[in-house]
Amino acid sequence: MANKYRDHNCGELNSAHIGERVSVAGWVNRRRDHGGLIFIDLRDQTGLLQVVFDPQVTGEGHRTADQARGEYVLSVTGEVFRRPEGMENPRLSTGEIELSANEVQILNVSRPMPFPLDDDSEIDESIRLKYRYLDLRRPRMKSNVFLRHRVIKLMRDFLDARGFIEIETPILLKSTPEGARDYLVPSRLYPGKFYALPQSPQQLKQLLMVSGFEKYFQIARCFRDEDQRADRQPEFTQLDLEMSFVEEEDILGLMEELFIAVVGDVRPDVEMTKPFLRLSYAETMAKYGTDKPDLRFGLELADVSDLVADSGFEVFRSTIANGGIVKGFAAPGCADYSRKQQAELVDFVRERGAKGLVTMALEGESGEPLEDLTPEKVRSAVTKFFSIEELRAIAKRVNAGVGDFILLVADKESVVNAALSQLRLEMGSRLGLQDPNRMVFCFIQDYPMMEWNEDDNEWESMHHPFTALQDEDVALMDTDPGKARAKHYDFVCNGFELSSGSIRIHDGQLQRKIFSLLGYTDEEITERFGHLLEALDFGAPPHGGIAPGIDRFVMLLAGEENIRDVIAFPKTKTAADLMTNSPDIVSPEQLEELHLQLREEAS
Ligand code: AMO
Ligand code: AMP
Repeated sequence: MANKYRDHNCGELNSAHIGERVSVAGWVNRRRDHGGLIFIDLRDQTGLLQVVFDPQVTGEGHRTADQARGEYVLSVTGEVFRRPEGMENPRLSTGEIELSANEVQILNVSRPMPFPLDDDSEIDESIRLKYRYLDLRRPRMKSNVFLRHRVIKLMRDFLDARGFIEIETPILLKSTPEGARDYLVPSRLYPGKFYALPQSPQQLKQLLMVSGFEKYFQIARCFRDEDQRADRQPEFTQLDLEMSFVEEEDILGLMEELFIAVVGDVRPDVEMTKPFLRLSYAETMAKYGTDKPDLRFGLELADVSDLVADSGFEVFRSTIANGGIVKGFAAPGCADYSRKQQAELVDFVRERGAKGLVTMALEGESGEPLEDLTPEKVRSAVTKFFSIEELRAIAKRVNAGVGDFILLVADKESVVNAALSQLRLEMGSRLGLQDPNRMVFCFIQDYPMMEWNEDDNEWESMHHPFTALQDEDVALMDTDPGKARAKHYDFVCNGFELSSGSIRIHDGQLQRKIFSLLGYTDEEITERFGHLLEALDFGAPPHGGIAPGIDRFVMLLAGEENIRDVIAFPKTKTAADLMTNSPDIVSPEQLEELHLQLREEAS
């Protein structure tokens, strides 16, 4: 690597280089003037190296080092020495040595940084995003970007070794339904017409199966204009994958092997549950209230509706009479929760759509049998409405013992599940049950094919409309579509949905039928999906696939809580790029060329 700037990387020097003359280049991470000696920690992408400028060794070099400031760019030539005894720094790979400079050149100067570049300072994210190129100089961000590269490289190598090929698909495309809003691109050549950016390469990868590429993958950029959350970005990356002549188990087996290989390589310290867990959709909704459960801990939910349907507590009775349910769980050892802590939990579920929260603290010595429970020992606003038998039965159902805190919500099933699934995570976090060194992967299977949308009064695909039905449920589509299960699977880890996929419909007639059940008219079907339906009629093979979200996976591997921290140039929560200031206005000439006219309010 020798050239006029350097012949070694800073972070790669060690005691084996003692006595050698080397050149390095990098940024001034820190400069200390020890009256006489100047110490500069020089940083390149491999790490830090301590450089000493001794006026006895190099008067000129010392004078130059004296002018250097933070983030100046230097090239230094000198001799590698062992550090004086007691001066070693075990936290640095180069901590046993230092470079005694003979020559130094300032390659560039720098303005003072807008924020400190260490990992410990709390910096406002908008400043970080405005100067993202500086933010990426910070060690944590740098290691996240390296980690991401490594993960993608491992995925590519893994799939290549198994005969997959990577095929790029277009970004200027036609609208394809994945459940979000499209980003549109106006056409200059076709007035009034628009391309849509792909929400995923879904239809194209299916078409590639029709073309006979039996094992396809792509590190694919997807675009979705949807409400942002900590684990969402308007543009994000999937490992998009599709295979011909496969069944559900082939894909799940491949995913399990791939994820074990990647995690084992980049996070050998992480404990994984192997084989990966499996839950049916019905089971996960019942036990965790969500189809992306954090399975690092229990705190399972239980339905107590049958136990309280005839109780004296009006809220429960009427909720059940109106078709709702009462469900809850027990927080172990939390019977001593104060009024204030309890009020926080009530607010927590109210903010998440529930009307209230019933709490019951089972006071007494932990380990005491439930048979000895008396009404006096049940601290709750509603104890008086229940018989002691009912209280004991509720406790048993939610697996609560003496010393535990029972949390119950009554409402429509969807509201109860939404509130309790989040309350379960909250209690898991309060109780320290979310071990950062464990990754518990789980496949969720047996999803319903369709969901009834109460607001729009129509059937909706639970995922996308290309999903195949389970063989034994095909007939249900004519009689009871809500009961039919799909060959769809999700793949979750520690409370995050990492992937979804399915075996697809490869029969054109069945695909047409599904589209019409979903409320598309014949014209819409032809206009939007004509190309796909036609392709299915030309000998489409049975096929299926999956698409793990790479950003979310890397976020978990990096131990980050925000997807933005594993993307080099992300957008804000409101889909803006603060560095280049986009979206931005365009010139009237550009609008004119695109046959667009802005309405008053937008200009
Ligand atoms: P789906 O829409 O479930 O499936 O997306 C698959 C995975 O992509 C990730 N993901 C996101 N990551 C960051 N920001 C977003 N806005 C975002 N949206 C989705 C998630 C998710 O699990 N074509 C199908 C896959 C298939 O059937 O093969 C699809 O896109 O990790
Ligand atoms: P209220 O009758 O509104 O005073 O409520 C009595 C208790 O029941 C309070 O502790 C409320 O938080 C709780 N509560 C009210 N509605 C619900 C509900 N739908 N589910 C669970 N608890 C509720």
